[in-house]
Amino acid sequence: MFRVLTNSTTPISGVGRFFLAQVRNATVGASTTTAPEKNREASSRIKTVSIYRWNPEEPDKKPYLQDYKIDLNDCGPMVLDALIKIKNEQDTTLAFRRSCREGICGSCSMNIDGRNTLACICKIEDSNKPLKIHPLPHMYVIKDLVPDFTNFYMQYKTIEPFLKRKTSTPVGDKQLYQSVEDRKKLDGMYECILCACCSTSCPSYWWNADKYLGPAVLMQAYKWIVDSRDEYTKERLEQFRDSFSVYRCHTIMNCAESCPKGLNPGKAIGELKMLLANIGSMPPKNSSTVGVEYK
Ligand code: SF4
Ligand code: SF4
Ligand code: FES
Repeated sequence: MFRVLTNSTTPISGVGRFFLAQVRNATVGASTTTAPEKNREASSRIKTVSIYRWNPEEPDKKPYLQDYKIDLNDCGPMVLDALIKIKNEQDTTLAFRRSCREGICGSCSMNIDGRNTLACICKIEDSNKPLKIHPLPHMYVIKDLVPDFTNFYMQYKTIEPFLKRKTSTPVGDKQLYQSVEDRKKLDGMYECILCACCSTSCPSYWWNADKYLGPAVLMQAYKWIVDSRDEYTKERLEQFRDSFSVYRCHTIMNCAESCPKGLNPGKAIGELKMLLANIGSMPPKNSSTVGVEYK
């Protein structure tokens, strides 16, 4: 049997862009081969990569899955390597985001074999099973694997993700000292790369993305709330005193399950709820954390 590296397309049945489809393998034809070709063939590891396609310039055409075949012997180990190889060698029209290729920028978040993760740190499974790649679920799609992050970033903006101070400190004269203990409170949160894998795996976010902020943004909000250098703790908490912003989290914990950085936004939301419950009796932040002489 001679396997040809070829593309095939599978229309996605059903209404809307978020439906999955059955995938078929494209194993094509028979031919006579020479001994060296047979040896090369025997050692090749052909993998079908089945990718969600949708083009905004063809709005009447429904989304579909397109199959590509790659030889794993001739490809890097990660899913992003496969995508780059396909784009370079087979189909330049394929659209996806990527930048750092080492799990730092968060650009390449997508749904791989049913799980939200980063393509650049997700290994290609060495098996005959087709690799299925979709955009992050429940997001509008701009093209192929590129989701629209507008709502996500607008929500991020509402939490004012920057240090806010009431005490003025002369710039360049003093540092904002933070004790080792206070710094430790940020561990498990500062590592977040805002890839949105958690938010787009959260059922509450799927249904209320217009009003519920979702795990990624809420964990960022909590990070600023517990940062000893920030002086707007109560004001930040007051922002969440409604029934949607925080309280749509039902502790299902899909978020922690899907985070490619191993973080736990669900836990941060739980602690945020505790602070909200005790906002009236909250002590002021430790004044020793502020304004230590730099020189
Ligand atoms: S918490 Fe994890 S999954 Fe969520 S945005 Fe941050 S890095 Fe991504
Ligand atoms: S714990 Fe909360 S934020 Fe995380 S998936 Fe569940 S409902 Fe969503
Ligand atoms: S390319 Fe930057 S996280 Fe994957």
